[in-house]
Amino acid sequence: MKNVLLTITSNVKVGKDIFLMRLEGDVSEVKNPGEFINIQIPGFYLRRPISVCDFDNEHIDILYKILGKGTEEISSLEVGKKLDCLIGLGNGFNITPNIKPLLVGGGIGIAPLVGLAKKFNEYGVRPTLIYGARSSDDLVLLDKLNELCDVYLCTDDGSTGFHGNVVDCIKNVAVSFDYYYACGPYRMLAAIAKNFPNGYVSLEARMGCGFGACMGCSIKTTEGPKRVCKEGPVFDGREVLF
Ligand SMILES: Cc1cc2nc3c(=O)[nH]c(=O)nc-3n(C[C@H](O)[C@H](O)[C@H](O)COP(=O)(O)OP(=O)(O)OC[C@H]3O[C@@H](n4cnc5c(N)ncnc54)[C@H](O)[C@@H]3O)c2cc1C
Ligand code: FES
Repeated sequence: MKNVLLTITSNVKVGKDIFLMRLEGDVSEVKNPGEFINIQIPGFYLRRPISVCDFDNEHIDILYKILGKGTEEISSLEVGKKLDCLIGLGNGFNITPNIKPLLVGGGIGIAPLVGLAKKFNEYGVRPTLIYGARSSDDLVLLDKLNELCDVYLCTDDGSTGFHGNVVDCIKNVAVSFDYYYACGPYRMLAAIAKNFPNGYVSLEARMGCGFGACMGCSIKTTEGPKRVCKEGPVFDGREVLF
């Protein structure tokens, strides 16, 4: 973990209430897709955790949805502003080369899968992606995702792609895969873990410290309580007691 000041170099709306922000500075502590950063928003006591969407040696991209006052404030921040961030948080995805991965994103849960897809491509593997959302307005970064993955879209209202949820879409597409890598709403992750044997889920929890000190983000697993911020946010789908 490292505490750094990062400069906002872009902050653009990419979907309904969804923004993509680029942060530049010393991001050397970010190692794996699936990690998250914890942002100090001016005027707010608690930091807000947001996944690393994509990164390289000079920058981090975050993709975030306005949910409440904190994320609304982040959306109003202008280019040039510096943000106090804790980076290099969480375990990130366990990437096994030479496998057939299935990426499953629900809503804003698509965020960490962008960096993960990029990493698989670096290993010479083009993943399949099932990307579900409530409606077509909530599907974002489609050009980039199509570059990196074989993409299948689904929406709850049928406005784009398969009409239904991601689990039904996976069955409909009949895609063969070795491991799934899923991020999205809790109920979606529970359904995936119940339906498919091998894979990883990236969980969210309300967080206090964000680095393992307060136990505020504990979840129940087959091996006892674990902290989403420290042992997670990525867990083996079979170990989480949903
Ligand atoms: C490891 C991790 C990674 C995340 N990655 C992303 C990301 O890439 N993009 C993104 O948009 N969001 C992400 N989130 C969620 C993000 O942290 C919350 O949306 C944000 O903190 C809300 O802050 P707010 O001040 O806008 O809303 P608040 O006013 O704090 O809350 C608004 C509403 O959202 C609920 N809520 C707030 N935080 C959470 C949470 N963590 N889980 C469930 N419900 C919550 C509250 O109960 C309330 O109902 C992530 C969360 C975690 C723990
Ligand atoms: S948020 Fe404090 S231990 Fe996870």
